[in-house]
Amino acid sequence: MPTTPDPLLPGRLTAPEPGWVTRSDVVVIGSGIAGLTAALRIDAELRARADDDGATVMVVTKDVLNAGSTQWAQGGIAAALGPGDTPEQHERDTLVAGAGACDLEAVRVLVNEGPAAVRELIALGTRFDHHDGVLSLTREGGHHRDRIAHAGGDATGAEIQRALIAAVEAAPSIEVIQHALALDLLRDADGGVAGVTLHVIGEGQRDGVGAVHCRAVVLASGGIGQVFSASTNPAVSTGDGMALALRAGARLRDLEFVQFHPTVMYLGADSSGQQPLISEAVRGEGAVLVDFDGGRFMQGQHELADLAPRDVVAKAITRRMHEQDRPHMWLDGRHLGAPADAPLDATTLEQRTAFWERRFPTILSTCRSHGVDPVVDLIPVAPAEHYASGGVVTDLWGRTDIPGLYATGEAACSGVHGANRLASNSLLEGLVFSRRIAQVLPGELRSWGAPLPDVRVPGIVRADVRPGLQAAMTGRVGVLRNEAGLRQALTELATMVDEVAPEVGVAAWETTNLLQVSLALAGAALARAETRGSHWREDHPERDDVACAGHHDTTLADRRLRREFRPSPATDTVGTADLVSTEGAAL
Ligand code: SIN
Repeated sequence: MPTTPDPLLPGRLTAPEPGWVTRSDVVVIGSGIAGLTAALRIDAELRARADDDGATVMVVTKDVLNAGSTQWAQGGIAAALGPGDTPEQHERDTLVAGAGACDLEAVRVLVNEGPAAVRELIALGTRFDHHDGVLSLTREGGHHRDRIAHAGGDATGAEIQRALIAAVEAAPSIEVIQHALALDLLRDADGGVAGVTLHVIGEGQRDGVGAVHCRAVVLASGGIGQVFSASTNPAVSTGDGMALALRAGARLRDLEFVQFHPTVMYLGADSSGQQPLISEAVRGEGAVLVDFDGGRFMQGQHELADLAPRDVVAKAITRRMHEQDRPHMWLDGRHLGAPADAPLDATTLEQRTAFWERRFPTILSTCRSHGVDPVVDLIPVAPAEHYASGGVVTDLWGRTDIPGLYATGEAACSGVHGANRLASNSLLEGLVFSRRIAQVLPGELRSWGAPLPDVRVPGIVRADVRPGLQAAMTGRVGVLRNEAGLRQALTELATMVDEVAPEVGVAAWETTNLLQVSLALAGAALARAETRGSHWREDHPERDDVACAGHHDTTLADRRLRREFRPSPATDTVGTADLVSTEGAAL
């Protein structure tokens, strides 16, 4: 077996000494649904305590409050809220999508606490779509029920973000620092959290690198989309939280399970960065995938056809692209909003247009801005990176291995997603597990620790390695993987470690974070010699529950990445045999 490179990585980001210092009891890093829910709930718990001694909560966010992934979420938030639906059915769909790699207890927490958490979001002021006074619920891939609540048609994340920001702005005890990139954790002599270093752009006295001393940190910093050339994630998704946790000694798990959304609008081979998502809810409303001959290719592939779990659809699209030697397939939603057999006249076109304008206004306008009118045109689609199912390992209360460090949302690996996240479970995960963190954190607050000196190690990499890194990850660690390609990617990535940046700055720090996460991800993908969920190995096309059921955990020890395999039995067959729908038909 050939060896793979084992480069020395910096255990801290090279940065100047903090030029300013401040204090807050709790620092929440990130301002999407996970971060703002954590901040609001922790603040409320602290205020409600009899011994409230004015403890403070600070939210730090890399850009402005609504610049993260939550804002872009289209489809919605899944919870068993509809007639006939139950948490058990939601559990079953989550476990099946997760392809045996979910944590059953975590999934049960998610589906059982989900409905109350969504109702609480409504009570907070989130305006979900209703029809005749009843909450509208739709369906997405892998769901056997209509259980996706949505807002503004396809602007669910933006509406949730709006409501949460309004609530945070109305909470005087929560301080917000925008344009603040979290660099590294500060720890005390016991190894627990004592603070975090930040780089802030242009906030008066808090400008440049500084330190916030604190008693707990909640990582809610989102995903890793910019590891790949094309992603649905915004530019801020550079894996900063995962890399910070790795450098601090926390474990990262399931990194190889990167979800590629099947229907991302194809804008051309050279299009990079954030790409337009065409929500799965469009297929939930009846749109279908077709190839270049006009044939529907999802029928016969899965009992749910075009609404099969995401990994199944992404693989089917990729296979058809290869068979037809085309860079994309097509999504046909032209018939939506009018009877299937309606003549193509002005009335039909009006009905279709009205449907698209009401149900998918964001997608309609995005498509039109790229010269495609979904009312009359097919939409070109191809899979692109969408979601990291893995992340920083937590227990059922968001605790990591480091005392005082919690993680939630896409940055975390709570165990609910396994090898493939079920559609619209991500907003729910952030919501449910942030509420849980708030239940335990105030009672576990550590006493103030003295931060150990922040040892500086040179080794951040030049920002201009980023395109090469993204090309290596997209070409060899993307939808379809094999051993030779993964080894080559690891070799290419390892050479980038030596491309030391001549000076520090946001671009070099972000690129170093991307590189550390990429090395860990590609290593885990190489180690998983099977195909499972979103991890697709052409050299190991079958799932292997004998040798491969379990998790690959990655840590940084003595500045080198170390991986450990933790076996655990497959969970996708648990408790599903006796599930029966209310109509009496076996699901
Ligand atoms: C979508 O609307 O298709 C995305 C929803 C999700 O990622 O769960």
